[in-house]
Amino acid sequence: MKVNSNSVAQIIRAFRKRSIGVYGDYMLDELLRGVATRISPEAPVPVVLVDGPIAPQGFPGGAGNVAANIAALGGRAVPFGAMGDDDAGRKLASLLKTKGISSATLVRERGRLTPRKVRIAAHQHQLLRLDFERVHPVSEKTAELIARRFATWVGRLDGLVISDYQKGSVLTPLALRLITLARQRRIPIFVDPKPEHPEICRRATVVTPNLHEAELMAGMPMRNREALESGGRRLLAELDCSYVLITRGAEGMTLFERSGAIWDMPSVSRPVYDVTGAGDTVIAVLALAHSAGASMEDAARLSNIAGGAVVLKFGTAELSAQELASALRDSLPGRTTSRRSRKG
Ligand SMILES: Nc1ncnc2c1ncn2[C@@H]1O[C@H](COP(=O)(O)OP(=O)(O)OP(=O)(O)O)[C@@H](O)[C@H]1O
Ligand SMILES: [Mg+2]
Repeated sequence: MKVNSNSVAQIIRAFRKRSIGVYGDYMLDELLRGVATRISPEAPVPVVLVDGPIAPQGFPGGAGNVAANIAALGGRAVPFGAMGDDDAGRKLASLLKTKGISSATLVRERGRLTPRKVRIAAHQHQLLRLDFERVHPVSEKTAELIARRFATWVGRLDGLVISDYQKGSVLTPLALRLITLARQRRIPIFVDPKPEHPEICRRATVVTPNLHEAELMAGMPMRNREALESGGRRLLAELDCSYVLITRGAEGMTLFERSGAIWDMPSVSRPVYDVTGAGDTVIAVLALAHSAGASMEDAARLSNIAGGAVVLKFGTAELSAQELASALRDSLPGRTTSRRSRKG
């Protein structure tokens, strides 16, 4: 890391004073754990023995996981989006509350189903996922309420994250309205996009697609160095953003800047338990660190370390500020990050 560990420690401490708006699809994630030792005589499927409480463990999912990550790191997350007026929505609101996040800014839309994913796992392996959802765009009235609530908050925010899971909260006109409000206040905008919605990335500060999403958005495969570089540059130009950060799973990430500079951040290879939600941790750390004064390059390096640390955890996908600081210390002695800079 270019920055020394003292200045990073200072950045991590500054997370506490940052408020980040998180606009996106709020979902309920549930995990039911058991033991699988035999195959059912009824059908060729494993039998999962659940020896414990029947109620599954719950976690805020989607944009809720980004908000939970921000809160776990000491920042303040202010959620924007819609959820249903249903049991899953109430459970989600109470889970957010236990993490210190008020759901008062979320719009409860009558008749809407809060998306709910139930994962069934045995021995740290996911066996099945049940999705309870009916995807449809939020109503015009809900969209108007989201925009108004954001407008009353934007003056108190240090950054805006848009976390699109394509469940209907992130609509192009609404996203562009929020981006315009954020730009007027000069707060940075961080977008975790879905390729089906590239237009919501326009004029964002940084977009963080994974490699597959980046390929779809750029309309080209990016499987070798040359293709990655031209794809990254194409995305910068087409999306009109200041930075594109392509997350590349076990390969780490690559940051592209408008000036032509490219930074590679290889990940530390580890025994990985659960990659679910690594992208949420990445954007949470990126937003907090950059809003706390780190350059985009340093914020990305820190988010890469955070992504590498969170994949070691099963079931949850959050890191505390202390865990991030210790992951950073572990990464310092054998670090292999390289900087490549090119004008273009
Ligand atoms: N197997 C791994 N080993 C080390 N680090 C990893 C691994 N997988 C992911 N990471 C870290 O997490 C970051 C984000 O991962 P990835 O590119 O898979 O995002 P994603 O596909 O958006 O994840 P998500 O499942 O949350 O959508 C990577 O850039 C890297 O820093
Ligand atoms: Mg992702």
